[in-house]
Parts: sequence; structure tokens; C-alpha cells
Amino acid sequence: MVVSTGSNKFKAAVFISGTGSNLKYLIKFSKTKKSPISISLIVTNNSKAKGLKFANIYKIKKKILNFRDKKLAEKKILLELKKNKIDIVCLAGFMKILSKSFIKNFKGKILNIHPSLLPKYKGLNTHQRVLDKKEKYSGCTVHYVTSKLDSGKIIIQTQVKINKKDNAKTLAKKILKQEHKLYPKALLKIFSL
Ligand code: GRF
Repeated sequence: MVVSTGSNKFKAAVFISGTGSNLKYLIKFSKTKKSPISISLIVTNNSKAKGLKFANIYKIKKKILNFRDKKLAEKKILLELKKNKIDIVCLAGFMKILSKSFIKNFKGKILNIHPSLLPKYKGLNTHQRVLDKKEKYSGCTVHYVTSKLDSGKIIIQTQVKINKKDNAKTLAKKILKQEHKLYPKALLKIFSL
């Protein structure tokens, strides 16, 4: 259960490590009338993350943290989440595993998007593993984050058909396109409950 801070939209922080295309679509969605969230913070472990450009374009506060000292980085993030009255955290291509204690501190309020039909194909190198197993379908999943990797309660999924000609790159591209629609749908779903 997520509690509103009083403004008419729930305040979200998005965590990224790379390109940030999911971030871009989340920002676009957040600006629509139907969006239950606004995005007030972007967090990254990677100062070179391409997605940071969206913080500049859309004038959203960003926080870059060095995860070499993970405990300290997480402590700083938690402070920032509190300071900015963040209601919900959306992990979107965030490549660091958050500690149990961090997750406990923000329990039930952290979401992640994963490019497979969970519970199948948790972890990295998803698309190649799916192809190696000759699956007919793959897809993407938005789920709650728990201390077990890619294992929290599933919120919503989309299936994508795999063609004979698909390779890991084409499959990733097809799935990513669906991810961009799925994350907003997941937010609408959890906030309309
Ligand atoms: C997405 O496929 C996401 O599911 C995975 O990492 C990728 C991030 O892409 N966890 P982007 O940075 O949002 O473009």
C-alpha cells in the first residue's frame, strides 16, 4: 500500500544505469493527465549513463552515486528519497542489486521491469537464453522488488512472439518497445487498486 504525500500525484524516483529509454517513456507518461505519478528524482550508479540526458531535458533532479561503497550509496539514496518525499521507486535498467535493508526501508514501494516472462529467465543475458531454449514466446514483466532477484510479486506482463529469424538483438528491440507501454500500465494498475 502506497500512501500519497498530499499532492495530487504520487512522487516517483526512477533508477537507471544506461540508455534510459524506459525512463523517457515514464517521463512522457507522467506528464499525461491520467498518470498517477510525477517523477521528481532520477538516480544512477553510472555518471556516464546516457539516460541522464533526460534529467537535463525535462529538468528533473538527478543523483549520481558511486556504488563502490554500496552501504554509503544506499544510505545517501534513502536520505534523498525521504527528502524528496518519494512514494514509489521504479527501477528501469538499474544494474545494481539493492540490499535487503534498503528494500526493507522502502518495502512494497519498489518496482522493476525485466525483459522476460517471469518467473522464467531471471537475471542477465535473458534474450540469448530464451533463444537457446527455442522458446516460441518471450516478453516483459513489471514486478515488485524483494531481496530475491527478479522474484517479487508480478504486477503485469506482455507476451512477444519470437520469429525464426530473431536474434538476441532483434528480440531485445521488440521487447523493449513493449516495455515502454508496460511500465505505465503497471503504474495505472497499482494505483487504481
Ligand atoms: C530493459 O530491457 C530492462 O527491462 C532491463 O534493462 C533494459 C533497460 O533499457 N532491465 P533502458 O535503459 O530503459 O533503455
